[in-house]
Amino acid sequence: MTAAAASDARRLRGRLIALGVTGSIAAYKAVELLRLLTAEGADVVVLLSPSATRFVGPLSFAALSRHPVESDVLDLLPDGRIGHIVIADSADVLVVAPATAHWLAAMATGLAGDVVTAAVLASNAPVVVAPAMDGDMWTHPATVTNVARLREGFGYIVVAPESGPLASGQSGVGRLAELPAIVDAVVAAVADRPVRQPNPDARPPLATGIPREADLVGRRIVITAGGTREPIDPVRYIGNRSTGRMGVALADAALARGAAVTLIAAAVEVPLPDAAEVVRVESTADLQRALRAAMTPDGAPADALVMAAAVADFTPAVRLDRKIARADGLTLQLSPTPDLLADVAASAASRAADAAGGPATSPILVGFAAETGSLDRAPAKLRAKGIDLLVANDVSEPGSGFGTDTNRVTILDRGGSVEQLPLLSKREVADRILDRVALALDARDEAAQTADARPVRAEEGRPA
Ligand SMILES: Cc1cc2nc3c(=O)[nH]c(=O)nc-3n(C[C@H](O)[C@H](O)[C@H](O)COP(=O)(O)O)c2cc1C
Repeated sequence: MTAAAASDARRLRGRLIALGVTGSIAAYKAVELLRLLTAEGADVVVLLSPSATRFVGPLSFAALSRHPVESDVLDLLPDGRIGHIVIADSADVLVVAPATAHWLAAMATGLAGDVVTAAVLASNAPVVVAPAMDGDMWTHPATVTNVARLREGFGYIVVAPESGPLASGQSGVGRLAELPAIVDAVVAAVADRPVRQPNPDARPPLATGIPREADLVGRRIVITAGGTREPIDPVRYIGNRSTGRMGVALADAALARGAAVTLIAAAVEVPLPDAAEVVRVESTADLQRALRAAMTPDGAPADALVMAAAVADFTPAVRLDRKIARADGLTLQLSPTPDLLADVAASAASRAADAAGGPATSPILVGFAAETGSLDRAPAKLRAKGIDLLVANDVSEPGSGFGTDTNRVTILDRGGSVEQLPLLSKREVADRILDRVALALDARDEAAQTADARPVRAEEGRPA
């Protein structure tokens, strides 16, 4: 198993969390809470009360969560669904942080006047509440009664506020609990519940077109695009229907996020980005040579490979160097091509095993599997190739696969998680894949640092 998969101990992997934010001075801390929850592997969708939108705007939440923010209880989703009901039904846990005195009162009496209360009322999922307010508000009998009702009457988990300086300038109990304590409470709330297989059609919509951070600065990423052509004679070849759109979208997205990109382009029908280092190839054999050179250059090794090219599975056993005449007739004998990704994975694994501090040298490897009909073979392909992520799609589905600007993919990882994405633009699919690559690279580096920090065994002279 690769470093990224082995070190994925994220405690909220596969969970959908609804984060409700209400109108407290501590609302800005909810942005960092969202970050911590996503760092634990959660998919988070944010609901803001109208007052909360006056303290902190929805853009940061939408950009970090990748979901549109719900803030108006009377707004419908673009597809006509009721946003807070979709969230209520699909969330594994709801967290209200910070929760104002007003929100506690509304919730205790079931007043569904804002999206946060409405979603919590409409859900059967566990609820974690982290109040924050002035000290006298917290100790007021009304608040004490409301908190007791939430805790004992409704079974909500209340993460009590802490003592310290308050926004009023006074000191007392009322500060929002430390964020790691809130994250721990969320983890505990779902700990004994199985991770559900998400149904993309029943989940909150994804925000699209949100610019990503420059989270790939300093990373070198190799991307392959287009379809290979296997020569039969100097005029003819066996090709496929790939246009290179998905690979080029990946290169554009990686460049926008600050990566240095080597784009190995087979036959493509779209312009290639100027900022990438472009290597043109034709056949599978050319692609294999280019890949070996790009993955193990003299300088820094690549951090990731995303293999979006459609590579021939068969090539003519013999390539004739003169044009075959019609009168000669033609029967083609085909030989299978090597599995290029499995080849890269095997050499990366052996380099990592040889190198001191091994995991740091392993690139994150992403494969694509174009299927027709079912994606049942995808998990076996992921294992057989020894890669970190497999992006599978059914190319026979309308709007998906070759020649379209959209794609509907399922991302599988070595840890067993399966993320089904709805129909999205290829650029958005590219960003979704790169979100996973960026996280895997961070996990790889963290694992390498932990390995470096371990004591050195005298007999080995390398981290134990
Ligand atoms: C600067 C400022 C800070 C506030 N901070 C808090 C707070 O920390 N906790 C609280 O309960 N109310 C606080 N309030 C009052 C709430 O914003 C107010 O009660 C509001 O109606 C809450 O609406 P909501 O619960 O629907 O978000 C604050 C108000 C202001 C002007």
